[in-house]
Amino acid sequence: MTEFRIGGRKGFASDNWSGVSPDVMEALRAVNHAHHPAYGENDPLLEQAQELFRQHFGPDSQTFFVYNGTGANVLAVQQLLRSWEAVVAPHSAHLNEDEGGAPEKFTGGKILTVHTEDGKISPSDVEPFLNSIGFQHHVQPRLISISQSTEKGTLYSCGEIAELARFAHQNNMFLHVDGARIANAAVAMDVSFREMIVDTGVDVLSFGGTKNGLMFGEAVVFLNKELARGFEYSRKQGMQLASKMRFILAQFIVYLGNGLWKRNAEQANNMARLLADSIVSVPGISLSRPVQANGVFAVMPKKLIPRLQKEYFFHVWDEDTGEVRLMCSFDTSREDVDGLVHAARRLMQNVDDR
Ligand SMILES: Cc1ncc(COP(=O)(O)O)c(C=O)c1O
Repeated sequence: MTEFRIGGRKGFASDNWSGVSPDVMEALRAVNHAHHPAYGENDPLLEQAQELFRQHFGPDSQTFFVYNGTGANVLAVQQLLRSWEAVVAPHSAHLNEDEGGAPEKFTGGKILTVHTEDGKISPSDVEPFLNSIGFQHHVQPRLISISQSTEKGTLYSCGEIAELARFAHQNNMFLHVDGARIANAAVAMDVSFREMIVDTGVDVLSFGGTKNGLMFGEAVVFLNKELARGFEYSRKQGMQLASKMRFILAQFIVYLGNGLWKRNAEQANNMARLLADSIVSVPGISLSRPVQANGVFAVMPKKLIPRLQKEYFFHVWDEDTGEVRLMCSFDTSREDVDGLVHAARRLMQNVDDR
C-alpha cells in the first residue's frame, strides 16, 4: 500500500488549502464506474448540471464547465474583448495580480487598473477611461470586471452591482464578475444568485467551486446566450475542456443540487466572524478591514507573524504594516479558531515590540 506524507494542522492560508467536502468525494466515487462519454458530450450529467445552473441563473443563461478559476476568468474576458480593447478592474483583482499575465496573453487586450483601498470600484472610477473611446491611439474600454467577494474580503451590494452594470451598458461595455467566492458572498448578504447576478444585469460570471469544497472545477455562466456564441471552441482552444468531464459535473450536481454550496459557505463565514470577534481580544492585534465574508484581515506585531505561522500558516498581506490575511474555509472549525487565537495569545507574551 502506498503511503502518503500528509500535511499537518489546518491553517488559515486560503480556502483552497482545505480538502474536499465528503459529499463531493462521494459524488466523485459515484460516477467513477464503467465508461461515460468524454467531454460531457451526450452525457446526461451535463444536462443535469446545466439545468441546476438554469434554476439559479434563469432560462436565458448558458453555462460551460472549466477546470480552474484563472481559466474561467481568462476565457470569460476573452469572449467579450478584442485585442485593441481593455478590461477595467481594481488593481487588486485576481485577474490583474494573480493570473501570471494570462489575461493579456490570451486576450491580447489590456487591463486598466484602479487602485482602491477596499478592492471595489464604482462607475466614477471607470469614467476617466471613457475619454479614450473613439481615440484611435488608445485601447478601447469594453469590459468592467469585479470580484464578489473581493480580494480584500469586501462585498458589493446588489445595488452597487446593478449600478455598475447600468453604467457599463450605457457606455457600450459589459460587466464580468469573478465569483471565485460567490457562495460566501451570497450567504453573507442573504440573497440568491439570481438577485445578485441576474437581476442586477451582469453579463458573464466566473462561478467558483474549488474554494468552497470542490476538488476542482469552475463554471463560466453567460447571462445571455447570445454572448456565449462560439465559446465551446474558445474553451477547447483555451485548454479548459475537461476530457473526463463527468468528474466536474458530478461535483456541481451535488454542490448545487443539495444545498452544499450554502452549508459550506455558512460554515466558512461563521468561522470568519468568530475569528474576527475573538482575535481582537489578543493585545496587539486589531482588524484592518471589515469582515464581510470568509476572510479576516488583521494587523499584528511583525515579530509575532513568523512564530504564529509555524503553528497555523497564513499569508502576510502587507509587509510594511504587518497586515495578514486569515481565510476560513468550509472545514474550519471552532477548535481551529480557538487554537489560532490561543497560540497568538501565548506567543504574544514573548513578543516585545507591540
Ligand atoms: C478572486 C479569485 N479569483 C479567481 C481565483 C482562481 O484561481 P485558480 O486559477 O487558482 O483556480 C482565485 C484563487 O485564488 C481568487 O482568489
